[in-house]
Amino acid sequence: MKGIILAGGTATRLFPLTATTSKQLLPVYDRQMIFYPLNTLIKAGVKEILVIVAPEHSGQFLNLLGSIFKNHGISLFFEVQKLPRGLADAFIMGENFIDQDSIAMILGDNIFEDDLSEAIKNFKSGGQVFAKKVTDPERFGVVKFDENEKAIEVVEKPKDFVSDWALTGLYCYDNRVVEIAKNLIPSDRGEIEVTDINKKYLEMGELTVKKIEGEWMDAGTFDSLLEAGNIVKEKGIYKKFDPLIDKAISEFNEELKNIAKKRLL
Ligand code: TTP
Repeated sequence: MKGIILAGGTATRLFPLTATTSKQLLPVYDRQMIFYPLNTLIKAGVKEILVIVAPEHSGQFLNLLGSIFKNHGISLFFEVQKLPRGLADAFIMGENFIDQDSIAMILGDNIFEDDLSEAIKNFKSGGQVFAKKVTDPERFGVVKFDENEKAIEVVEKPKDFVSDWALTGLYCYDNRVVEIAKNLIPSDRGEIEVTDINKKYLEMGELTVKKIEGEWMDAGTFDSLLEAGNIVKEKGIYKKFDPLIDKAISEFNEELKNIAKKRLL
């Protein structure tokens, strides 16, 4: 299983914060947002990760992540998405990277409290997505279940109530996702939608939806960004990172301190 973090986009809802940096490089408590999705993948044993970034901020991503895992057995690859074409673009941009493997794609602004490692590790084929009960389902792609808890419908941002189970920003697919993504037609808002990929796997009878209990944060607005930082601190989520990430961050900090000392000499 390989991983993709989709960390491009325009982040208009966070202007002016994102006029100078990328949303996924903004702090969530004591570390940049991107470390949270990195943690979800690395905890699950994913060792090859493609990070898709926007052109304006590609240098900043490289400064932070370019060498951070070089002694830790994790290989990061980068691609620049010139225009935000939609979430499904991850699988088109990632075609060569994905090659013959399965893929876990996570949005760069999604933070999960639950440890989803087992679900990612045990993924075999088809599509596997994760749902969380929300009070504002009209903002998300949602999934409807029948009385046997089987997923029967997925709808993108429903205007009329369909279900209050939102699909979160973590998606595991087998290799067929690349061809499915390449054949998508852009939606009315001009994006190729990951919901249409889920619809396809559902039609094929191969979509598994796992409900999650813990906090799920999509840190894309001022309020949710602030709330994410508070929840991470209050629930101690920052203490539950994979030790590999903590070690890589503390080595990076040491390096920065040494450079700062030299500058002061
Ligand atoms: P969104 O939050 O839907 O979009 P955005 O980040 O551009 O923000 P806004 O709506 O405020 O303008 O995107 C969810 C995640 O996916 C986020 O991490 C950005 C990323 N993304 C891409 O990398 N490429 C894309 O084409 C899109 C649509 C999103």
